[in-house]
Amino acid sequence: MIEVIAFNGSPRKKGNTEVLLDAVARGVKKAGGSIDIIRLCDLTISPCIGCGGCSKEGKCVIEDDMTILYDKIGSAQRIILASPIYFYGITSQAKAFVDRIQALWSRKYLLGKGVGKGQSGRKGYLLSVAATTGERVFEGAELTATYFFDAVDAEYSGSLLVRGMDKRGEVSNVADELERAEQFGKEIVGG
Ligand SMILES: Cc1cc2nc3c(=O)[nH]c(=O)nc-3n(C[C@H](O)[C@H](O)[C@H](O)COP(=O)(O)O)c2cc1C
Repeated sequence: MIEVIAFNGSPRKKGNTEVLLDAVARGVKKAGGSIDIIRLCDLTISPCIGCGGCSKEGKCVIEDDMTILYDKIGSAQRIILASPIYFYGITSQAKAFVDRIQALWSRKYLLGKGVGKGQSGRKGYLLSVAATTGERVFEGAELTATYFFDAVDAEYSGSLLVRGMDKRGEVSNVADELERAEQFGKEIVGG
């Protein structure tokens, strides 16, 4: 069974990211996969302090909830990074999580060690939502996602980007977007 892990960087409960992730989860399950959705806001994830400690053994010196997440990331076959757009990038909660991936970047690029636990073909996906409709609104998030997935040894394989959603959970009234999200979930398992 394909196991998907999704990191939700939105601090807003029942927000658009959460609604979209729930629709993605329905698609994942209909396609025979399993999904674990993690609300980053519920965890203690301190920002990276740039101490360079991880360059020695590929392990972060900070002891907090990231310790569990490093393991989960290592064993997942499909990884979703989900965040609304805040000032043309991902939320600070999501960015703190991504920055702490520096420990895995160090494993890969400084120590030449693998990140995924033995599986090949690990894949990564970005899910994002923004209030505005500008063509370039997701560019910052996409760049961050590209280098996040590279560091965790997953191939960046697609994105679900939803524009024009601002009020809490308003995407739940847009059947087309929910359908698109469910389909995205199915493709993640099938891809
Ligand atoms: C601090 C903050 C910054 C935001 N910056 C942007 C932005 O730069 N561009 C944009 O289109 N929407 C921006 N938004 C709107 C959110 O992306 C939008 O409300 C989104 O639907 C929130 O998703 P959520 O319900 O999952 O939290 C911002 C919202 C907040 C609270």
